[in-house]
Order: sequence, then structure tokens, then C-alpha cells
Amino acid sequence: MERIKIGIKELDDLFGGIPVGRTTLLTGEAGCGKTVLGLQFARSGCEQGLKTVYLSSEETAADLRLQCTALGWDLEKKGLLTFVELLGKRTKQIELSVRIGSDVAKGNFAGLIEHIPDGTQLLIIDSLGPYAADVTAYDFKDQFDLLLYNLAERQITCLVILDAATSKHFDDMAMYSVYGAIRLMRRDNPFTGRRERAMEIVKMRSTATPVELLSYKISKGGISLTSQIEMDV
Ligand SMILES: Nc1ncnc2c1ncn2[C@@H]1O[C@H](COP(=O)(O)OP(=O)(O)O)[C@@H](O)[C@H]1O
Ligand SMILES: [Mg+2]
Repeated sequence: MERIKIGIKELDDLFGGIPVGRTTLLTGEAGCGKTVLGLQFARSGCEQGLKTVYLSSEETAADLRLQCTALGWDLEKKGLLTFVELLGKRTKQIELSVRIGSDVAKGNFAGLIEHIPDGTQLLIIDSLGPYAADVTAYDFKDQFDLLLYNLAERQITCLVILDAATSKHFDDMAMYSVYGAIRLMRRDNPFTGRRERAMEIVKMRSTATPVELLSYKISKGGISLTSQIEMDV
């Protein structure tokens, strides 16, 4: 299976990256590094010459550029990356729905698809959370599956980011539909007594992945693993 490197060397060496034309889910609590990982994947995609789109529903493109600068990256240099800012659009929709009392702003995952430019090869959706507010579990599953179906039809490789709270709210149901799922967290290391960042590869279909938690750090240059990976394949 063809793969796109995530941009985290230790993981790419291990299983080659994210499967092409499929959707992988990235969940985690606030500040765990979901956006950093999203940008790192976008950077990796650009380096591999892919037309990459970063859909942002929570941050402005200016803030994302600042984050990139802090990480030492100039993502737009090669002209392969487009930031699509949905924050303003979402705010307008909310205003509208408050004014006319409709539900246009709620659960409109399909509406996201309109914002994906033609020819997109790699897509990062950061994040789906705001679109899932006030949606029933039934609607969430339906709309999420519809989104995945549309992306697959367009042969887009996608990383969908969802905050841990929203994911849990729907019993982590999104994890069942996707091809791959990665969870970021903080944990207390029982050996060192220190708090550390850890990543779990919850699933990656047709791929051998480590079952244990992988410690990582965020520094200039992005996310890198700090634990040795042991695999009993
Ligand atoms: N250049 C950097 N050096 C070190 N740590 C960084 C850097 N940039 C971001 N971080 C860390 O990443 C965290 C933010 O991660 P972010 O991806 O925005 O989280 P999430 O999207 O999961 O809420 C910051 O709180 C900070 O701890
Ligand atoms: Mg974020």
C-alpha cells in the first residue's frame, strides 16, 4: 500500500506513513500537539510534492503561520500548501443561525467538502469538533461516514483532527469508521514519576503497529519520539 510519510522519522521508519487515499483520525486533549502534528504532516506532504490543504476551523491562518515559524518551518514556500480558514465562515453561520433560528451551523460536515479545492491530494481538517456541537450520535455517525465516503471518492488522503472531549462524547465512534486512528495524551510515567507526552497508534489497518504508548516531545522542528519502539511482529 502506498503511504505518505507523517514527518515523524521514527514512525515513518517503522511503518512508512499514512495510507494514501484513506482517512486517519487524530484525537487528543487541548495542548497535546494535534495542530503541531497536523502541520508536520502538511509539511511532509509538501516535501513529497503533494498538493496539500489545511482546513482550519479553530485558528486563523495567521496564527498557524506563527506556529510554523516557531517550529522553524516555512510551509508555503513551495506553493504546495493552502490554508483554508473556516473560522470566519463559521462565525457568520452561527450569527445567521442565531438570527433566523435555523440549524445551518450544526453538524454540517458535508458543507466542509465544498471548501476542499479541486486537485487536493493531502488534506488536514483541524478540527471537526466545532461541527459536531449539538449533533445526535446518530447524525454524527451518518455525517462522518458521508464525509469519509466523499474524501475516498476524491482519492484524498486525510488527517481529521477531533478533540478528545467530542470524540468521547460520541463514544469514540469515529474511530470505527476510519482507516487509522492516533491518540495523543499526557501521562505520568510510573518509572520516572514525571509527566510526559504519549501517543497511541489505536489502529492502522493493514499495518503492523506497536501496541505500547510511545513517548514524544514537541520542540523546534516539531514532534519526535523519545521512547524506543519495541514491536513483536
Ligand atoms: N516550537 C515549540 N517548541 C516547543 N513546544 C512547542 C512549540 N510549539 C508548540 N509547542 C507545544 O505544543 C503545544 C500546543 O500544541 P497544539 O498542537 O496547539 O495542541 P492541540 O492542537 O492539541 O490543542 C503548546 O502548548 C506547546 O507546549
Ligand atoms: Mg489545535
